[in-house]
Amino acid sequence: MLSAKLKIQLLRNCILGLQSQLLSKSSYMPGRFYSHQESLPHLPVPQLQQTLKKYLKTIRPLVNDADFQKTQIIVEEFGKSNGLGEQLQKVLVERSNEKENWLSDWWLEQAYLLSRASVVIYCSPSVSFPRYNFQGTLGQVQQAAKVISAILDYKIDIDNEALPVEKLGGKPLCMDQYYRVLSSCRIPGTEKDDINSFSRAFKPPQHISVVYRNNFFELVVYHADGTPLSVKELEIQLQRIVDSVTTEVPPVGILSSLDRDRWAKAYRSLVGDASNQASVKSIQQSIFTLCLDRSDSSSNKNWRSDFALNCLHGGGSQLNTGNRWFDKTIQMVVDENGGVGLVYEHAPAEGPPIAALLDHVYKFCENIQNESGSAMDLPSPKALPFNISPDLSTRIQEASETIDDFYKTIKLEVVDFKEFGKDFIKSQKMSPDSFIQIALQLTYWRLHKKQPATYESASLRQFRLGRTDTIRSCSNESQNFVENVDLPNLQVAEKNKLLKDAVTAHRQYVGEAVTGQGIDRHLLGFRLAAADAGLPAPDIIKDDSYKRAMHFNLSTSQVPSKADLCMAFGPAVLDGYGVCYNPKDSKILVAISTFDSYPDYDSKTFSEELFKAFCDMRDILISGSAKL
Ligand code: COA
Repeated sequence: MLSAKLKIQLLRNCILGLQSQLLSKSSYMPGRFYSHQESLPHLPVPQLQQTLKKYLKTIRPLVNDADFQKTQIIVEEFGKSNGLGEQLQKVLVERSNEKENWLSDWWLEQAYLLSRASVVIYCSPSVSFPRYNFQGTLGQVQQAAKVISAILDYKIDIDNEALPVEKLGGKPLCMDQYYRVLSSCRIPGTEKDDINSFSRAFKPPQHISVVYRNNFFELVVYHADGTPLSVKELEIQLQRIVDSVTTEVPPVGILSSLDRDRWAKAYRSLVGDASNQASVKSIQQSIFTLCLDRSDSSSNKNWRSDFALNCLHGGGSQLNTGNRWFDKTIQMVVDENGGVGLVYEHAPAEGPPIAALLDHVYKFCENIQNESGSAMDLPSPKALPFNISPDLSTRIQEASETIDDFYKTIKLEVVDFKEFGKDFIKSQKMSPDSFIQIALQLTYWRLHKKQPATYESASLRQFRLGRTDTIRSCSNESQNFVENVDLPNLQVAEKNKLLKDAVTAHRQYVGEAVTGQGIDRHLLGFRLAAADAGLPAPDIIKDDSYKRAMHFNLSTSQVPSKADLCMAFGPAVLDGYGVCYNPKDSKILVAISTFDSYPDYDSKTFSEELFKAFCDMRDILISGSAKL
């Protein structure tokens, strides 16, 4: 039985097939998605003086008096009438008049494509599902078949441009990122990478790539008539892959864990061979990559954290880091021990579209019925061979040594705070996100007695092609709260007021950031506009206070999902934490990462202190309202 949406898609394929005989690729017919996009506003350029005033306010808790005074003078000079600030503001306004989004190309380049750091840990987040009840290769293959089927089901809505429009605070959001996550791949380049997207190619890909014991395969997932393979058929095909692997091969995928410059060099060497090039092309064009992972037998004590780490970096050359192609936008990971998750290359999209895709996978897998199927008509999955020259062999060895030194330096705690969740915080007429951010501030203060420069992602998707700005959660008000709340003689009513002021200030910043009135991307814009116009880099950017403000001790993000999914990513700096959270109605899922360079930055200690901060803040609210 074909589902209604599959029937629509087959019909659409048919029409597109006819169209494609008449139309060139560039005259592709826009669908529903594009009419929604047209209705979205353009990202504004904030007022110059507004940004400068806010900038001074946000750095105040982070710098000493002398630095602050120095910065005040620099900011005044930048903002004076007919000064560099006004010149650059004009360039930005002109750019915003000419482009669909004045920021998005720049952001893509600056945040991702120009970065030379490895995408592993530094950039690509992982997501882990709650543990499933399967074990061994058979269970792994059965679960993986369901995951493939679920993504193909989601893809029907992508292909039909029929995904429901997401909203934030009642406002419709740009859906462009949803349409970029499948069939796309980052390509390493000298100085700058690229992203190739194949979903709108003349002949969109019909296959996924599968990697098992470092061996890559091309698996066609549609029948000739365009219907997807059933779960049973996928299972048979995956089993064929597993059965065909008899030898260990050099872990060519591990090259993609290198820093981008070394990977770009290795890549040139790799694709210099025609057969390798064909294999690489197949992986890049595939709808997504499925990594059938080994399980780490030592991992059971803190299974969720260990599995999230395995998704993040693969556990080194002896485990699964070679069982990856880290440039692939979506890599689904299924191990032999109940683990399902993903690692995604961040350049094309933020977390929420990925969480939506995974929510679909989770729900779909829950509801799958047993299906029949046979391998009779199915072509065998195609092995993707690699010829490993002595030069490549050396590079693979180097990449293995690099990741083996690096992966152990990151610690991760994925924890469930079960005392309360969004419902309680809302009942206190408070924003759950702001409450959590202030708890992070309190935790950091209690552990380090310093104010942390803090990054929280703010969605700019209310605007066409919007990505993110920064919510600077550390404020004068949060400083006031965290530095005073533990004073022995402070009355509950005063604690309550300090807490509410801190939460209100954060909420106000959120409101400004998501409506395009943040400061970080504007300041970045000044730097890039100056470079474009051949003008000197503004002093405001070269100043020590700016460097302090950009040294994000807390790199944080909320990624909500319906299922119990938890995204995780690395810290932005060595003396810092990466914190991603998923607030549910009655609990809060949190993933906290640290590097081991500073012993007093420890993810486990932070998680324990954070839970205490949550409870202390709850108690302040409860006893505060009891007094009223
Ligand atoms: N009283 C009662 N309820 C309140 C409230 C208050 N004062 N303030 C907020 N709420 C409610 C909201 O209505 C919302 O209700 P819902 O669960 O029914 O939808 C809920 O609490 C959550 O609101 P809040 O916690 O304030 O968060 P938010 O949904 O507004 O999100 C951000 C805030 C910053 C996370 C969001 O704006 C954003 O930018 N998200 C994108 C982040 C991103 O891209 N991350 C990925 C990076 S890879």
